[in-house]
Amino acid sequence: MSFTIAIDGPAAAGKGTISKAVAAHFGFGHLDTGLLYRAVGRKTLDGMPAIQAAQSLTADDLKADDLRTGHVAQAASKVASIPEVRAALVDFQRAFARRSGGAVLDGRDIGTVICPDAEVKLYVTASDEVRAERRYLELSANGHAVTREGVLEDLRERDARDSERATAPLKPADDAYLVDTSGLSIDQAIAAAIAAVDQVK
Ligand code: C5P
Repeated sequence: MSFTIAIDGPAAAGKGTISKAVAAHFGFGHLDTGLLYRAVGRKTLDGMPAIQAAQSLTADDLKADDLRTGHVAQAASKVASIPEVRAALVDFQRAFARRSGGAVLDGRDIGTVICPDAEVKLYVTASDEVRAERRYLELSANGHAVTREGVLEDLRERDARDSERATAPLKPADDAYLVDTSGLSIDQAIAAAIAAVDQVK
């Protein structure tokens, strides 16, 4: 039997951490759908047209070392506004969502477009400043030369592009449970997400 948890929200709100922990807690599989768009964006930086990159995406492309950089994130959000790129990635995501044993998918349009019938939908947010600080700490801890201002500007630009695009814009599904992680520790945010799933399960 499949059980799908859709987790959407803007960049660096805590989706990744929460999704991994929720998946581990329930013994579900986890798919970080942002990685798919990052891998497509990465290939366009090498000169491949975006639609061709999406249609030819393989598991190996998801293993590139620099997918987490701000540079690749910007390329990802640009290719993500192209309807044909999004269309090329739908089947893979839906197949993952239906895997037996349960699935957690995190992204921008999981509850609205990819899995509108997901058993649980969460929309994870935090203030711009809190998100930028977290992403700054994460990137600097991994040895990337970044500034707080640069990271904040990068997040705002990406959120604006993701929210304003015509196809599958970032927005909460009508029936999503909102989790604002601004004032929460990681453990509190995870507990809030698990409690929301427990209400349905
Ligand atoms: O989640 P992450 O920051 O890795 O996503 C990178 C970019 O991929 C986002 O800024 C967004 O443009 C795009 N994306 C998307 N739909 C998803 C997941 C990510 O458009 N489901």
